[in-house]
Amino acid sequence: MTPLDTDDLQWALQRRLEDVFVKLGEKFGDLTGRVETTIRPGVSFDDVGGLQQAKAALQGFTTALTHPDRYKDWGITPPKGVLLYGPPGTGKGMLARALAGASQAIFFRLRLFNLTSKFGANTGELLQEILRIAMGEGRAVFLMEEVDALSLDHLLPPPQAREASARLVAALCEKLDAIDPSARVLVVAATSRTDALDPALVAPGRLDHLVEVTLPDPAAQQEILDLMRTRTEKSAGRPLFEPLDYRSILPLMGGMSGADISEILRRALEAKVHRAAKQASAPLVTTADFLEAVDGYKRVRGVVEKIRYGQYL
Ligand SMILES: Nc1ncnc2c1ncn2[C@@H]1O[C@H](COP(=O)(O)OP(=O)(O)OP(=O)(O)O)[C@@H](O)[C@H]1O
Ligand SMILES: [Mg+2]
Repeated sequence: MTPLDTDDLQWALQRRLEDVFVKLGEKFGDLTGRVETTIRPGVSFDDVGGLQQAKAALQGFTTALTHPDRYKDWGITPPKGVLLYGPPGTGKGMLARALAGASQAIFFRLRLFNLTSKFGANTGELLQEILRIAMGEGRAVFLMEEVDALSLDHLLPPPQAREASARLVAALCEKLDAIDPSARVLVVAATSRTDALDPALVAPGRLDHLVEVTLPDPAAQQEILDLMRTRTEKSAGRPLFEPLDYRSILPLMGGMSGADISEILRRALEAKVHRAAKQASAPLVTTADFLEAVDGYKRVRGVVEKIRYGQYL
């Protein structure tokens, strides 16, 4: 029996972790929204659409967490870390969560952008503490999102950023090197900016398995859409969609990520909520409704881009 088998034990463990993080917060400052721990992440590899290669690669890592002895049988130590890289919203976080779920591991998630902004120079020490907690709790997947933020170029002018970042990366590398190979902890780093990544992090023995997480092609987009449709219908307990005409939908979604698709789906359903509020009921989502949601989403993205590039300032 693993410690995660009963709800009582899970609850106790969650409480204990929360206590530890409150104590850490007393030392470093409030960690709310900066560290997330999930005892039993409810995501499986089956929930991830497309990404066959990335899924297969990550599924391979479950052995490192569940049966590290198999590595020993072949005279090697299990991997310590993997880097997931690819455009935003393509499922990197989801894959890490699925890996934790499939390995019955506790899932720790840090957004490094957030963490480095607040803790700057103390980030190294804080990371060390969190890693220590992860290692003390049995199997753990430790996701560090936006690992490019270790470059600190969002915080400091270039010369200072380089120097502070080098120190921070060196501290993190030291911690990665010090992880006991039998610890059943896997560090998963994720980034959409490989250009800003320090090569020291991906040196052998550290985050030395590189997995690309690509934008979905039309077939993968359809799979993702179907998965999401099924999930929402299940949660509503009824059909929500007419059969969709993918031949007219997919050509309009070139370059869109899973996160984009999720947002479009939400918009299509939200329009139904509004309509049902006015008319007491609304028909199922049709292809035309969906296309309207795609259009609305594209308009919103256009405005977001203009804001980002300062054209509205
Ligand atoms: N391949 C996919 N299959 C199913 N859902 C997906 C997929 N990719 C993205 N999604 C949806 O998009 C949401 C965001 O995905 P996720 O956070 O894993 O992306 P990410 O690559 O970590 O993004 P970021 O780089 O912005 O952190 C997920 O919660 C899910 O709803
Ligand atoms: Mg993410």
